[in-house]
Amino acid sequence: MNASAFDAPAAGREILARAEALARHSDSSGHYTRTWLTPAHRAAAAQIAGWMREAGMSVRTDGAGSVIGRYEGASPGARALATGSHFDSVRNGGRYDGVLGILVPLACVAALNARGERLPHAIEVIAFADEEGARFQTSFLASRAYLGRFDPALLERRDADGVRFDEAMRAAGLDPAAIAATPRDPGTLAAYVEVHIEQGPVLLEAGAPLGVVTAIAGGTRHRVTVDGVAGHAGTVPMASRRDALAAAAEMVLAVEARARTGGGLVGTVGLLEVRDGTGNVIPGHVEFTVDLRSGDDAVREAAERDVFARCEAIAAKRGVTVAVRRNHAVRATPCSPRLQALLAGSFEAVGAPVRRLASGAGHDAMVLAEATEVGMLFVRCGAGGVSHHPAESVTAEDAGLAAAALRTFLERFS
Ligand code: HGY
Ligand code: MN
Ligand code: MN
Repeated sequence: MNASAFDAPAAGREILARAEALARHSDSSGHYTRTWLTPAHRAAAAQIAGWMREAGMSVRTDGAGSVIGRYEGASPGARALATGSHFDSVRNGGRYDGVLGILVPLACVAALNARGERLPHAIEVIAFADEEGARFQTSFLASRAYLGRFDPALLERRDADGVRFDEAMRAAGLDPAAIAATPRDPGTLAAYVEVHIEQGPVLLEAGAPLGVVTAIAGGTRHRVTVDGVAGHAGTVPMASRRDALAAAAEMVLAVEARARTGGGLVGTVGLLEVRDGTGNVIPGHVEFTVDLRSGDDAVREAAERDVFARCEAIAAKRGVTVAVRRNHAVRATPCSPRLQALLAGSFEAVGAPVRRLASGAGHDAMVLAEATEVGMLFVRCGAGGVSHHPAESVTAEDAGLAAAALRTFLERFS
């Protein structure tokens, strides 16, 4: 298809309109939150499946609830160039995180289908059902299940309302025993390329609408439990307290202090819960999360050792106990030089400057990299680069340009 046949501005407007439509499927009436297998999540899945069918794709739902559309290549059964991203969100998040990586490829396939065009390879658009893990703390659950990897221990996890993981699956019509029963054969994948909002200010500050991702920062997530002794806020002398929250607070500041030491390290405590927290009770049990990332795995691993050694020392000093459970780990992931070059050439073909950058955010591409070569196409993030926030924004022009560049990439890929 020549460039003139693709109406990028119209595609961009359609992508943003669809993102708005999907954002209306939210767990909350007050803000955009869509967690795994909730009614809003299932409604969004049905909407995406409908758009895939309209674009001439065959559609299936896998064991984790991901929606996979396939547009056949010129020769039936050809290996698939896979693309996609996730359609779950963080709490009170941005409406383009993940979703853009589903809607941009859909626009490309719809354009091919409208002209009856077939490429040598098949195209598969994968709408991953759970990447953020906001409901059960299960990062990359769906892309891991897609490759047949699943930790059965997760079945016993409970969400904030006490609903068990396997119960949530059955309520959504999914069989817990089959969550990873149909692993994707890596031999049927030609490559994976993910389109994603940058979630940072680099492209915005560079005046570049699109970016070629060079590598994705590795990360780990831990859940830390601190146990002290609960007691009466009015009668227990300060010297004899074993206050779990005061200890946790010192540990949280230790995470921040270590992460500030450089090396491209970032450290975040995003969740802190006081069990049975009451204003006039000394906290006895506290749990918090620790998210550590760096483009260099050795830097991150050293930080982990230091942070949790500090937590042990703080616990000993304060007479409390501390336990650490690792929930998630993914190594720093380089993107395929071949796909980077192909993306760069596609940007030039549509008149976009080529800006290369690393990703501080994690993406499903890190999991797919275990099965095939991966590339990522970033789209400029507006509003100062803010993300995981309702102010997250993308322009229709940039979304259309991303679709034009991806379409060129899909056509040039071999
Ligand atoms: O946390 C991340 O980097 C991604 O949004 N899951
Ligand atoms: Mn995210
Ligand atoms: Mn994302």
